[in-house]
This record gives sequence, C-alpha cells and structure tokens, in this order.
Amino acid sequence: MIEHSDIIDENIIQEGSDVLFLLDTKRTFLINIKKGEKLHTHKGFIQNEDLIGKKYGKKVLSSLGYEFVALKPTIYDYIKKARRSTQIIYPKDIALIVVYSNIGPGSRVVEAGTGSGALTCALAHYVKPNGRVYSYEVREEFLPKARKNLKKAHVLEYVELKNKDIISGIFESNLDAVILDLATPWLVIQRAYTALRGSGCIVSFSPTIEQVVKTVIELEKNEFVGIVTIECIMRKIRVKEGATRPETLMHGHSGYITYARKAFKKSNDLKPLF
Ligand SMILES: C[S@@+](CC[C@H](N)C(=O)[O-])C[C@H]1O[C@@H](n2cnc3c(N)ncnc32)[C@H](O)[C@@H]1O
Repeated sequence: MIEHSDIIDENIIQEGSDVLFLLDTKRTFLINIKKGEKLHTHKGFIQNEDLIGKKYGKKVLSSLGYEFVALKPTIYDYIKKARRSTQIIYPKDIALIVVYSNIGPGSRVVEAGTGSGALTCALAHYVKPNGRVYSYEVREEFLPKARKNLKKAHVLEYVELKNKDIISGIFESNLDAVILDLATPWLVIQRAYTALRGSGCIVSFSPTIEQVVKTVIELEKNEFVGIVTIECIMRKIRVKEGATRPETLMHGHSGYITYARKAFKKSNDLKPLF
C-alpha cells in the first residue's frame, strides 16, 4: 500500500529535481538540484540546498541580491537548452509539426534525421507514456548528443534511436505519422507511404523551395492527399504601455512545412455510394 508520505509532490523541488532559474526572458539557467552545489551566474550564486522542499514558482535572491524565479522546466525550455551538433527545428515550427502530424499519447511515429534530437524531444513528450518515436540518423557521431538531450528532457525511454539510413528502409509499419527533416525527403516518400496506416500523416520540414517542390511531386505520385505547404513567420512583440510594437530584429527564415495524409490506391471496383 502506498503511504501518503510516499507520494512525491511534483510541485515541490526535491534533490534531483530540474529547476529553470529565470532572471529575465533572455537570461535563464536550467540545472539539476544537488545538495552542496551552487548555481554560479554573473549576478551572483544560488545555493541549490536552499530550494529543496520549496514550491516551484518561488522567488530567491542570489548572493549579490538579484531576484531569480525557480520555475519547473517545460518541454520548450528543454528544447531551447538542447546541445546542438546540427541545425535544430525551432519551437514555432515544432508546434505546427505536432499539430499537423496529430500525435498524442500512444502514437507511433517515425522521424528522420535525429540530428541534435530537438524535435525528437518534443515528439517523445507528446507520445508518452505509451507511444513510441523511432528516430533514424545516418551519422552515428550525432547520436550521443541527441541521447543526452533526450535524457535531460526525461523522454529517452519513449524513443528508439536508430543509426540507419531511412532511404534504405523503414522497418516499422502501421505508423500514425512519419516526420522528415533531412536533405532529401522526396527519396523517403514511397517508403513512408508503405509504413503508414491508412489516413496516417506525413510532415516534412525543408529549408529550400527546391526541396519542397520535389517532395510534393513525390507525394502526389504516391497517393497522398490533402497536400499543403506553409511557412510560419513569427514576430515577437515588445509590450510596453504607450510603446507596444514588433521587435526590430526577427528570424527571417527557418523552413517550409509540407503535410499530407495517406489514402489507399483506387481499387477497380470503385463505385459511387448512393
Ligand atoms: C537538420 S538535421 C535534423 C535536426 C533535428 N530535426 C533537430 O531538431 O535536432 C538533419 C539530420 O538528418 C540526417 N540525415 C540526412 N540524411 C539522412 C538519411 N537518409 N537517413 C537518416 N538520417 C539522415 C543528418 O545526418 C542530420 O543529422
């Protein structure tokens, strides 16, 4: 029987908990709380121990008197702090990929390439606890960093990292979604079609229009339907009473997202329904 005292309150910081210390929106520090250790910043240090037993959301002062807020990290925080060995997909695009691929708890998803694992972290976060992400990466040297990023985000157990070239085969079947972020997505479309269940979703992210055109042609050839390509342009707004306006600088371009659904090929006995 579970004793009341055994239940861990997820809102209380414990030894081993992750904490995002927020100084302001541009300066945050993600650490794992360990007794006897300090977080050192240019605004002074914070003793880890002082947080144990406190609620997330607590304000603390550094040794130099600066106020930090101890927040519970979100999947967005883990992605932002991911170590990079490749270009990663930005959260604005990840959000759309998650919606267009319709993934949720229990979904089975194939993804390629893993790269730094930023997108993989998000996919795993949404398919847990009983779904699975099969992530293909052709370059073995990228996998250790991706594995570390997944471990830090506490989602490694929902991911199967595969050092394989996805063009040479997808070994899973009846998938809910296939998600592509690699240089030649059009070479994967036929295999993705076979691996998906009827009505399953494919989403492809590409930085250039040439890649998009080749991918869409291949989707059309392979009986995918509802093919749409979009670009998401995001502007941050600086909010200040009497002076609210968009920030002067913005990210100009990340990539295009193409999504589609698998339809079955027309059978010879196709008749109108009355
Ligand atoms: C832009 S990175 C992916 C970044 C990743 N989406 C992220 O958010 O961290 C593209 C990756 O695709 C991998 N790749 C390219 N062709 C591949 C293939 N045929 N099979 C598997 N991985 C491939 C590359 O090695 C590279 O790591």
